[in-house]
Amino acid sequence: MTGHALIFDSGVGGLSVTAEIRKLLPALQQTYIADDEFRPYGEKTDKQLRTRLPGLLWILCEAVRPDFVVIACNTASTSALTGIREALSIPVIGVVPAIKPAAQMSLSGRFAVLGTPGTVRRKYVDQLIADFAPDHDVILQGSTRLVALAEDKLAGRPVDIAAIKAQIAPIFEGGPVDTVVLACTHFPLLREELIRAAPDGVRFIDSGEAIARRVKTVLAEFTDLAPCEVEVDRALLLGPDAAPARRSAFQNFGFTRVVGLLPDAR
Ligand code: DGL
Repeated sequence: MTGHALIFDSGVGGLSVTAEIRKLLPALQQTYIADDEFRPYGEKTDKQLRTRLPGLLWILCEAVRPDFVVIACNTASTSALTGIREALSIPVIGVVPAIKPAAQMSLSGRFAVLGTPGTVRRKYVDQLIADFAPDHDVILQGSTRLVALAEDKLAGRPVDIAAIKAQIAPIFEGGPVDTVVLACTHFPLLREELIRAAPDGVRFIDSGEAIARRVKTVLAEFTDLAPCEVEVDRALLLGPDAAPARRSAFQNFGFTRVVGLLPDAR
C-alpha cells in the first residue's frame, strides 16, 4: 500500500513508531518532523502545547502535503490531539499509552506507566486507568532525563545504565511490578538498557505495533490516494542541523535525506 505519512515528534522518539510502521507498510512514504527547538515536550504545560501544535502542524502539512499525520508522541497526543485534528482536514493518528494491554498482561495486579512528567499527570491517563485498570495498582512515573538519554543514544553518545536505573528505581520501591508501559515514544529506543536496569522478569510494553495497525486501517479507508511526488523518505529537524551520528540514526531508520532547519550552533 502506498501513501504518504507525516510522522511528528519532539525529537527522535517517533523513530520507534516509524520502525513498526515500516514493518507493516514498507511501501508507505514517510516524512519525519522533529520539533527539536521545543523539546522536551514533557516539561511544557498543556497550554503551551495546545497553543503551538495545531498551527505548527497546519504549516507543516501545507508544506509536506501528506495524506495523513501520525503524532508519534504521547505528550503531544494526550494534550493537543483535539486541537490538531480541528486544524487539519486530513486524518490524524495519535498515540494511546498501552494501559489496556498492560492491565490484561499484569499477573501481579501492579503495573507502572513510565512517561514524561507531562503525560503522567494528564487526566487522559487517569481516565484510561479508570476505564481499563480500575482494580489494578498503577504507579505513575515521569522522567525527562530518559528522553535526553534516548536522544544521547541516537546521537552516538554513551548511555549510562546507572542513570537509567536511578530514573526507574521509584517504580519498584513499593513492591513487585511485572509490567511497565513505555508511555513515551523515546523510551522503546532504550529498551535494552531498561531491561538491564530493571529487576529480572519485568516486561516493557509500548504502543508502536498498535499505531502501525491503526495506520494500516486508516490507509485502507482512502479511495483516491494521489501518487506521492517525494522519492525518498526525509527527516526535517526543526532546530539545529544534526550532528553526524544523529543524522545517521535517522538514516538507519530509513530517512535517506536529513535536513536541519538552522545552522548547527554547537
Ligand atoms: N517522545 C515524546 C513522547 O512520546 C516526548 C518527549 C519530550 O519531548 O518530552 O512523549
